[in-house]
Amino acid sequence: MEETWRAVDEYFADRLVMTDDTMEHILKKNEEADMPTIEVSRAHGKMLHLMAKMTQAKTILEIGTHGGFSTVWLARALPEEGRMATLEVNPKHAEMARENLESAGVEDKVEVIEGEALSTLPVLLEKGYPRFDFIFIDADKENNAEYLNWALKLSKKGAIIIVDNVVRRGKIIEDTEEKAVPHIRRMFDQLAEDDRIETTAVQTVGQKGYDGFLMGVVK
Ligand code: DHB
Ligand code: MG
Repeated sequence: MEETWRAVDEYFADRLVMTDDTMEHILKKNEEADMPTIEVSRAHGKMLHLMAKMTQAKTILEIGTHGGFSTVWLARALPEEGRMATLEVNPKHAEMARENLESAGVEDKVEVIEGEALSTLPVLLEKGYPRFDFIFIDADKENNAEYLNWALKLSKKGAIIIVDNVVRRGKIIEDTEEKAVPHIRRMFDQLAEDDRIETTAVQTVGQKGYDGFLMGVVK
């Protein structure tokens, strides 16, 4: 089955523009630096880009930069005056991301903020960021419930919040050793009682296997 998922992703990639030299350069560079290849897929990077465009986002927050692949997709969706902050705990990854943002020509629009997101999130407004139009959560899964709470605090009414990796090959509903899973469930349990956001979750298959996104609009 995984082979079919991959082949269908390739079928789409042959017909729809899902990548370009800049993006391929970033993927190659991250891989050569021995970073884990856990970036969103090309198709999902483009999906995030289109969603940010659909909502005409002017301010974007990303929690979990990694090497900046999704960051570049999102930054490219911003209008001229748009701004983005992306939070990264690993200094080496933050440095890679800065280089990648520069090679993509979006470095003026994006600030890579280094540190534990639970320490950097509380100071974003003090640093002069307005509330955000679009927030992508894709960092350590153990803190997803906390990140979602921060996203709700830092977003405008009508903002879009997307969370990556909420299915984990179906482990979300299985007995599992994967230590993040109980924490992802904690986020869903919290959402069951949260009236600040309207949400859905979609399962996805493709180049990166079987996973899914949580997505919502802030009320
Ligand atoms: C993995 C994938 C991700 O998209 C991520 O954010 C973290 C980990 C993984 O496949 O392990
Ligand atoms: Mg992810």
